[in-house]
Amino acid sequence: MSDSQDLDVLLQEHRQFEPPESFRATANVSDGALYDSARADYEGYWADRARELEWVTPFTTVLSWKPPHAEWFTGGTLNASVNCLDRHVRGARRNKAALVFEGEPGDRRTLTYWDLYVAVNQFANVLKSLGVKRGDRVAIYLPLIPEAAIAMLACARIGAIHSVVFGGFSPESLRDRINDSQCKVLVTADGGYRRGSIVPLKRNADKALEETPSITNVVVVRRRPGAVSEEAFAEMKEGRDLWYHRLMRGAKQWCEPEAMESEDPLFILYTSGTTGKPKGIVHTTAGYLVGAQSSTHQVFDLREDDVYWCTADVGWITGHTYLVYGPLANGATCLMYEGAPDWPEKDRFWELCERYGVSILYTAPTAIRAFMKWGDQWPAKHDLSRLRLLGSVGEPINPEAWMWYREHIGGNRCPVVDTWWQTETGAIVISPLPGITSTTPGSATVPLPGYSCALLDSSAKEIPVGGGLLALTRPWPSMLRTIWGDDARYVETYFSRWPGRPDLYFPGDGAKRDENGNFWILGRVDDVLNVAGHRIGTMEVESALVEHPAVAEAAVVGKTHELKGQAIAAFVTLREGFKQSSSLRDELRNFVGEKIGAIAKPDDILFSADLPKTRSGKIMRRLLRDIAEGRALGDTTTLADPNVVSSLKDMYEANES
Ligand code: PRX
Repeated sequence: MSDSQDLDVLLQEHRQFEPPESFRATANVSDGALYDSARADYEGYWADRARELEWVTPFTTVLSWKPPHAEWFTGGTLNASVNCLDRHVRGARRNKAALVFEGEPGDRRTLTYWDLYVAVNQFANVLKSLGVKRGDRVAIYLPLIPEAAIAMLACARIGAIHSVVFGGFSPESLRDRINDSQCKVLVTADGGYRRGSIVPLKRNADKALEETPSITNVVVVRRRPGAVSEEAFAEMKEGRDLWYHRLMRGAKQWCEPEAMESEDPLFILYTSGTTGKPKGIVHTTAGYLVGAQSSTHQVFDLREDDVYWCTADVGWITGHTYLVYGPLANGATCLMYEGAPDWPEKDRFWELCERYGVSILYTAPTAIRAFMKWGDQWPAKHDLSRLRLLGSVGEPINPEAWMWYREHIGGNRCPVVDTWWQTETGAIVISPLPGITSTTPGSATVPLPGYSCALLDSSAKEIPVGGGLLALTRPWPSMLRTIWGDDARYVETYFSRWPGRPDLYFPGDGAKRDENGNFWILGRVDDVLNVAGHRIGTMEVESALVEHPAVAEAAVVGKTHELKGQAIAAFVTLREGFKQSSSLRDELRNFVGEKIGAIAKPDDILFSADLPKTRSGKIMRRLLRDIAEGRALGDTTTLADPNVVSSLKDMYEANES
């Protein structure tokens, strides 16, 4: 969480932007009365949203709430892939582009709704032929290519539960996620492209597969015929590994969709928490889809001719909700780009926006700050006049980045929607509505209709204006239902912050509220870091470090980073016989990269003879954060003087007594 000083600066932000007149008149939500009617009849509001989906059998009960467990829209059955595909191919959107794909090397493919529908049906049949049944888990470890969406929707079609694992995660991370939910089939690719090099996904998967007994088959997508495939061909394991393109060739074009109960799980997505073990967040079919469809419609204001681009990878919740389920349920044309924003040049995003006529862009503050640093000349080279709406997600956006985004990308004409939500909420919770909300740089503004948020103190007393802990005070359809295999952890993590109040959901964020009722999200108040918009638990990195033979003890904290929002700083105590050196530092960074994935590599490693601890042996992270921020120690590359630590320790103990 930021300093109180930073907060004051933040709250002195008075720039306000009203929705442009053109938007006001035609927006999907143009009347603020929707907030009032949702408040007046909360369940009725959500029932109306749910009726916008296509049901096999209509639901009979809107909500059963036995805190902290909710069930939504029970009695009904539906299928998510039918909602994303069949209802469009039956109507006018049959030949409309669904996915417009560009690979990093420049290869291009467009799949119409019909094309996507056929591919999903075929792959659903492929999965069935491999013995995948309703309720089985399927792991997906792919680059950002159309097959990722195809595999997800194919699972949904047959009622299998997908678990997408981000392609940047290591073999060990993949292994642990597969084992936690006992996946039956893994869908991967020979490789993917990132900054000109090939990420060897199948090779990583093979390492994971050495210890995943539940996997019976591996389906391998050939990313591009050529170099990667040659090696991958040689490494296919007889009987277990099968090529996607071969399986698809013989697959039938129709697969009867399963009629799923509303509360049947749609997918599991792992996310970091405060322990070393990631949590398998469980989302269900109807509630999730209701949240995804309605928020996409309202917040992104989709119109029939929009070209919508969410830059997130399908490995994260943003990719699930706002690249696949939300926009496809709305029948949108979605751009999907595989690679890095600075490849081959720093204007790749703007080149894509110009070429495809992107009208809605949804990206992360980390990217925006990088664009700012690279300079105004890159977007200025391109015609971005088709853009009409800009979105931001994943971490707090500083007002300067917000203003730059509005001016240099949005030409001062596009509303900016800063959207707050998380893996667990499934869909956007706090965000402006572009046709009605006046925005202020840095504030996600107010909860969407149908959501109820509050700032509470530690005794659950509401703070109308000022700072506190963010809470969701009512259940919502797309909320997580549990943690896979660990309901006790679900209760403990999300519904135990306020004793005796199992009805209050705690997202782990601190926030402020101003006089206008706007929320300003300040960041995590737990031991979870947000690095470039991605959640990483400090415990996960610590557990990885102490597995290295040279490491006796490790403590990890976040430090402010100009581009990434937060960076990882690790304090490491070495075992007897090991000496600190820059090569050991590199080795440890890479070690963490291998254990978890490159995103978790510490930026700084500070060797220290001791770590500042309380008398009870708890590491004092607050002091370490001071050191990492350079507040107590100028040079953060190495902690040369162990006395610094002991003096910090003395200071702490003096405070404590
Ligand atoms: O701390 C908040 C931050 O990201 C966390 C959720 O991370 P994850 O589950 O990975 O989902 C990211 C994409 C939805 C939140 O607890 N966060 C997300 N969006 C914002 C944000 N912080 C401030 N402003 C946002 N718009």
